[in-house]
Amino acid sequence: MALITLRAALDAAKDGGYGVGAFNVTDLVQVEAVLEAARETDSPVIVQTIVGASAHGSDELFWDAMRTTIARYPDVPVVLHLDHGPSYDDCVRAIDAGFTSVMIDGSLAEDRVTHATFAENVAVTARVTAYAAAHGVSVEGELGTIGGSEDGGVHKEIVLADPDEAAQFVESTGVDALAVAIGTSHGAYKFSSPPDGTVLHMDLISAIAARVPDTHLVMHGSSSLPADLREVINAHGGTLPESWGVPESEKARSTKLGVRKINQGMDSHMAFAAAVRSYLDEDGINVDPALYERRGRVAMQQLVAERMRVFGQAGQASRHR
Ligand code: 13P
Repeated sequence: MALITLRAALDAAKDGGYGVGAFNVTDLVQVEAVLEAARETDSPVIVQTIVGASAHGSDELFWDAMRTTIARYPDVPVVLHLDHGPSYDDCVRAIDAGFTSVMIDGSLAEDRVTHATFAENVAVTARVTAYAAAHGVSVEGELGTIGGSEDGGVHKEIVLADPDEAAQFVESTGVDALAVAIGTSHGAYKFSSPPDGTVLHMDLISAIAARVPDTHLVMHGSSSLPADLREVINAHGGTLPESWGVPESEKARSTKLGVRKINQGMDSHMAFAAAVRSYLDEDGINVDPALYERRGRVAMQQLVAERMRVFGQAGQASRHR
């Protein structure tokens, strides 16, 4: 079984009333952490990566190695997903490399800074859905603009999604999943105080879900930014600013309102970095990457397994057997 499409994972999640975490990975050690967490909790899972954002020398090398690793977990239903595909060509490259799902982020123009028009977004997304459909691959589109940066570069201004446009976008593109901007942002700096209804527009989720009942909604920028992990990182040389992310309770609530895919990268990166920083700091003589990367992998697996229980995907792998 191993590889499944995003459509299959999210249709099952809708039937079961739960959400599926989409965990960003930037190297093979993290892929292993996520797959082990899924096996440990008997979860279906979405493993996602961004073009050019891995520690490896090329996307192709990393993507090949990801597929080989996933094949070693035949008991785990896995969606291999391209996160924030910046162009049609990148989505085609991922589909040809065996991804079972791609996101085309048509919300930004080609310079990745200016906002694309609605018509431009529809045009590039529809091209991707046509190619993907011919290859049995699912597609996620984006409407509105999620803040922050998914790759450490550009900082985007938040533009909330609009329910009427969502209905029109889905009809014109046929996407399986839709990332809706509801006020979240990517990265390690999100909110300057605990978020309430004025920054996190949970009401928009239900309004959009009602307009696009056959399309699954995706919440980006869902990391919680745990204060305890920030403290460990900062106690060992880090300089992360105080910031609040999306509370665990809000993520669980979002799955009741219609969110099916919950994107999260920063929390597991923080767990990994906290474990590595404290290990290196406490054991000044050890420089063997196997030792500190192992600490990072175990810490990341633990955090991802916890999230899988919160999202409700734990114990749901059997739906795909
Ligand atoms: P975080 O930056 O909150 O982890 O979100 C990741 C994400 O949405 C990737 O698309």
